[in-house]
Amino acid sequence: LPALGASIALGYLAGSIPFGVLVTKIAGAGDLRSIGSGNIGATNVLRTGRKDLAAATLIGDMLKATVAALVASALFGPAGGLAAGAAAFVGHVFPVWLGFRGGKGVATYLGALLGVAWPIALLFAAVWLATAKLTRYSSASALAASLAAPVALALTAGWGTAAVFAALTAGLWFFHRENIARLLAGRESRIGDKGTPSP
Ligand code: G3P
Repeated sequence: LPALGASIALGYLAGSIPFGVLVTKIAGAGDLRSIGSGNIGATNVLRTGRKDLAAATLIGDMLKATVAALVASALFGPAGGLAAGAAAFVGHVFPVWLGFRGGKGVATYLGALLGVAWPIALLFAAVWLATAKLTRYSSASALAASLAAPVALALTAGWGTAAVFAALTAGLWFFHRENIARLLAGRESRIGDKGTPSP
């Protein structure tokens, strides 16, 4: 049990590092909270016009979960890795440093998958890219990819792993509720649009 607690603490702390806020602040690219959707993720960093910062945000928000999962797995075994990956997602969405107002968890979900079951991370990325190519909606791509992952995990990994990621998917859909409303209303902004989606 202490091992599980340590894994969760490690994952949460790593996950709560808001790379989007940090890189835009350091680069002087403006206040993410008052740009586009106001979200702290790579999709919204892209709306600053800085592709390099968006890429850095994607990689940072992803790898923080991967590193936490791999470290916890090495120290405490696979259950620790799973717990740390899931806790990183929670840390990204509810970071103590930002008054618990964090992001929507897409990159961090992918990073956790990469640390826990890397082939399924490739599947997630493939579904995301295919949906994005078809629709140019970042949110819809994430929603679709996050459905595929737990199904694939149920078929290839243990039920425990599939159940944990299914719970993360439920969270991811909940945190995208405003995006879902905009998608249904045809008002969601597309990748490459500078347009400000109404909140
Ligand atoms: O699924 C991508 C998600 O982060 C959407 O971001 O800024 O369009 O709400 P945003």
